[in-house]
Amino acid sequence: MGSNRKRIGILTGGGDVPPLNAVIASAIEASFEYNVELMGFIKGWRGLVENQYVELSKIKLNPLIGGTILKSSRINLEKNSDGAERAVKNLKNLNCEGLIVIGGEDTLSNSFSFPTFPQVLISKTIDNDVGLIRSGQGRIEAAEIVNYFTLGFPTAARKISSFVSLKEGLRTTAYSHERIIVVESMGMHAGWLALSSSMGHPDFIVIPEFPLEYDRVKDLIIEKYINQKNVIIVVAEGAKFDNGSYISADEKEKDDFGHPRFKGAAETLASKLKGDLKKYFDTRNVNGINPSYLYRSGTPSDLDLNWAAKMGKEAVKIICGGLSETLFLTVRKERIEFSLSPYPLSNLKCMDDFHRFVDGRFYNAGNYSVTEEGKNYLKEIVEEISEDYYGLR
Ligand code: F6P
Repeated sequence: MGSNRKRIGILTGGGDVPPLNAVIASAIEASFEYNVELMGFIKGWRGLVENQYVELSKIKLNPLIGGTILKSSRINLEKNSDGAERAVKNLKNLNCEGLIVIGGEDTLSNSFSFPTFPQVLISKTIDNDVGLIRSGQGRIEAAEIVNYFTLGFPTAARKISSFVSLKEGLRTTAYSHERIIVVESMGMHAGWLALSSSMGHPDFIVIPEFPLEYDRVKDLIIEKYINQKNVIIVVAEGAKFDNGSYISADEKEKDDFGHPRFKGAAETLASKLKGDLKKYFDTRNVNGINPSYLYRSGTPSDLDLNWAAKMGKEAVKIICGGLSETLFLTVRKERIEFSLSPYPLSNLKCMDDFHRFVDGRFYNAGNYSVTEEGKNYLKEIVEEISEDYYGLR
């Protein structure tokens, strides 16, 4: 192997998502096209700090297999005394001219530790919370959404919609047994994934950005149950009560980035409802369900697959063209088409400046549901699942 060829590094960090191998596979393909060596660091930033890597051109990778062949970890370089220094030293010793970093808010935040080393950042997270929504005077059509979606979100959004739907998911058993089912969504700070379940028509959605007023939601559930005889509620793992406390989290067991370990919001809420609704009706069929890692598993959706393939290729192309500063490779939507658009890291002071949350344009806190505008945004990313099936509802 010609060691005098240009080299590029690539790593995947944080929670895995289905299209990661598709990004890596397309970067491998592009590395042949541009005649560069692609060095894959094992277990994200950990592999870079510890100099653990593999030359990827020797690897034949199936882009349809979810997860990441490079494996993953969650390490915070700021907490790793000389981590950033070692990372840059290892990249330089290997003669890497650039680094492709594929991660969510935490993994990508490590890139701020050495802004002078050229990197292309690709956002992946089922939480869909990396990006910006610029004003638009309260209207989504007028708002500029920087990074329209993050890789992994389209697949996970389709899954959660399917899990709660009538056609493919829980609604049929909810109907048959007159159940109240609380389904947990991932999402520590942002409720995009929970909100996306609206494409499968649950009755209520509780997200971290808007506190849960327990007595009010309880009354809404009672009313819905009386009329419909079954209720499906989606709750994000990071949702909070209006007194500010998480529905369920162990604040003592924090990860490297200070996030608590969530302990099952759906289960907690379901058991609270089971007790409190007893005086109104039989609550033996009130259950909490947490699909958990299923959201992140399996093969990518077409949208994820297509954009992962475009991103891997584009990242290699950008670095080979001579990258002078670190760039986010964002998905932009212009009129009806998606395209890729570089966004300089130097525009931001820290990852918090590129952290996107659900706001009142997308979510109606009054009845715990998606707004029309929120639906219009989600429809671009995940196909709605029809509820007119068997005429059950
Ligand atoms: O950051 C993505 C995410 O899916 C979050 O929604 C979730 O809290 C977290 O990963 C959990 O992942 P793990 O159990 O791997 O730490």
